[in-house]
Amino acid sequence: MTARNPICVALDTADLGRATALAKALKPHVGLMKIGMEFFYAHGARGYETVAAEGLPIFLDLKLHDIPNTVASAMTALMALDPRPAIVNVHATGGLDMMQAARDAVAGRAKLIAVTILTSLSDDDIWQAGFETSKDTQYHARSLAELACRAGLDGVVCSPHDLVGIRHGLGRDFLTVVPGIRPADAATQDQKRVATPAAAIAAGADYLVIGRAITQAADPAAAAQAILASLHGR
Ligand code: C5P
Repeated sequence: MTARNPICVALDTADLGRATALAKALKPHVGLMKIGMEFFYAHGARGYETVAAEGLPIFLDLKLHDIPNTVASAMTALMALDPRPAIVNVHATGGLDMMQAARDAVAGRAKLIAVTILTSLSDDDIWQAGFETSKDTQYHARSLAELACRAGLDGVVCSPHDLVGIRHGLGRDFLTVVPGIRPADAATQDQKRVATPAAAIAAGADYLVIGRAITQAADPAAAAQAILASLHGR
């Protein structure tokens, strides 16, 4: 399913006032807000709850990666947040047992998705990190997505370049949350595998994770509106 407003804005800041101001300004224009480790490590549960009180569903992007018991305990703690996050995640490279332990701890109370291969990593980067050199990022992202599906997870975070393969293998109901999104005229910055919002939706993305292209715009609300218009006009 493609969400009615598929924009998930990444509130990547450690400044509580700025995160709250962005949440207030952007809530009429986006479908979801993403809180990541930069903010959560600085402000913890109380900061999360302040931003979540603005009322939009939250993707709590903490990318857990540890042994099954530790990840399960951490997920249990995250399920006590009020309001509960709509989406939480783990790294698929944590393995099948870890993902199953996370799934059991979440127990259907939030969507649980797995990070496959970070959108900031190229083929050279993953080879340096020890992935098999005869296979590329798309192959590894698809294998990790299949593992996440086997573990009973709801979907994955993946690059726009990995979407078609993952959709082909795992079907339309498997949730795809896609960062590495850049409007046609925007700088790539540290992301390496990017696409425009319309191209990512056309390739089957359910949610588009968009940070700096919105939050660092002179008028973030106008930037979000322009991205939404680019989707409807495609
Ligand atoms: O500013 P930008 O649009 O590049 O922000 C992308 C967001 O998506 C960041 O919050 C980043 O942590 C997150 N993300 C990513 N690649 C992944 C998973 C999450 O860029 N594979």
